[in-house]
Amino acid sequence: MAFDPHKTFYLETFGCQMNVHDSEKVIGTLISEGYRQVPTVDEASLILYNTCSIRDKAEQKVFHRLADYKKLQAQGKKFGVLGCVAQQEGERIFERAPHVSMVCGSASYRNLPEMLVQIEAGNRRVTGLDDRQTDACFETEFTARTNPHRGYITIIEGCDKFCAYCVVPFTRGKERSRSSESVLAEAVRMAAAGYTEIQLLGQNVNSYKDPQGKKTFAELLAAVAEVPGIKRVRFTTSHPRDFGRDIVYAIESVPTLCDHVHLPVQSGSTRVLDAMQRLYTREQYLERIQWMKEARREISITTDVIVGFPGETEGDFQETLSLLEEVEYDSVFGFKYSPRPNTPSLRLRDAVPDEEKARRLAVLLEKQREIQRCRNQRHLGQRAEVMVEGKNEARGQWIGRTSQNKVLNFKAPDGVAPGLGSYVPVVTTAIFPNSLFGEMVI
Ligand code: 5AD
Ligand code: SF4
Repeated sequence: MAFDPHKTFYLETFGCQMNVHDSEKVIGTLISEGYRQVPTVDEASLILYNTCSIRDKAEQKVFHRLADYKKLQAQGKKFGVLGCVAQQEGERIFERAPHVSMVCGSASYRNLPEMLVQIEAGNRRVTGLDDRQTDACFETEFTARTNPHRGYITIIEGCDKFCAYCVVPFTRGKERSRSSESVLAEAVRMAAAGYTEIQLLGQNVNSYKDPQGKKTFAELLAAVAEVPGIKRVRFTTSHPRDFGRDIVYAIESVPTLCDHVHLPVQSGSTRVLDAMQRLYTREQYLERIQWMKEARREISITTDVIVGFPGETEGDFQETLSLLEEVEYDSVFGFKYSPRPNTPSLRLRDAVPDEEKARRLAVLLEKQREIQRCRNQRHLGQRAEVMVEGKNEARGQWIGRTSQNKVLNFKAPDGVAPGLGSYVPVVTTAIFPNSLFGEMVI
């Protein structure tokens, strides 16, 4: 096909895996419309940002990018803002960054082809801002997956939980699940195309409801994991309130279902959990952890924590630290509370000063580092199968990932070069706070 300078696009993605996967679908849609993806803004006629608004810092990134590249407008380049900031800020983006000509939230991606036609016709303010009421998931005929071995499938979009701090119900709309039939059909197509790992995605995968009523979430997990050719199935993110014991049973009985659960706790204090409207207590959360600890397979557990939620006292924070000790997570993602537009927590008093949030975050992360140092010891001398993800040429090491989602870098015997995407056995010989190191065995 001849090079058409007017139909090239550059797309940068911020935020979560949902956004990464949305971008793969957006790229597929644009390619179907005759566009070509290019790796730099200089080569692009259309510059797109798929944005995140989960915390203020994430939101500011896109406005910095837009300011940095504003001058390119003089060369006739067009700018579009997609995703969560688009949905949240809507037409205000045109005021803040007048060189933007398209604003499109994730619930409107199915309208992208028409929106592109309008942009090409010279329309300077094209919007797609469907609200929460959309009933359908965004599916495309062609998804431009970026990794040839590991791919995402969205099983549920949106969120109906309305945690007090969270912008997601406003940016991604109400919960809507895809039929288990269409999820399984996609898994079978992916297996046929050579994918061996599938990650099922949703803001809250545990509230999955098959529109045809054929499968529960745990049954869907098992069914995807049993698709011939699929070696690993992961899922994210779980909500403790909806996390059922049947998921643990599924992990116990289906070896291809990965032995890792990401179960965000947010706080170890029931008082704070209540103010966050998380719909569970510390004790109920710990009960779910107990289910996993009692499982016949060792399950790796990771979490998210927010420090400095309005009204969080030193005592509440200490309860979070003690929860970390009690659970002994494999990894913790910690965040300072960031007030977000529209969210109920904006109305709460007793804000925690930023320096105090920063202090608590540092304490939290240091505590977790200690826990991981001890906890990772158990891997020493253990043999695990890793998927080969890449090579660190400078160190002559291979980059691998275990079923428990741990990075396990390794040395291969002389003359052996494992293929990317292949699975090889590795024995762990050294541990680091955030990764393991080992030797491949043959
Ligand atoms: N401030 C700080 N962290 C937040 N998260 C979600 N909303 C906020 C907020 N307003 C964190 C939660 C969630 C993770 C994806 O981001 O811990 O689990
Ligand atoms: Fe960010 Fe949430 Fe949107 Fe993902 S869904 S991009 S985390 S705001």
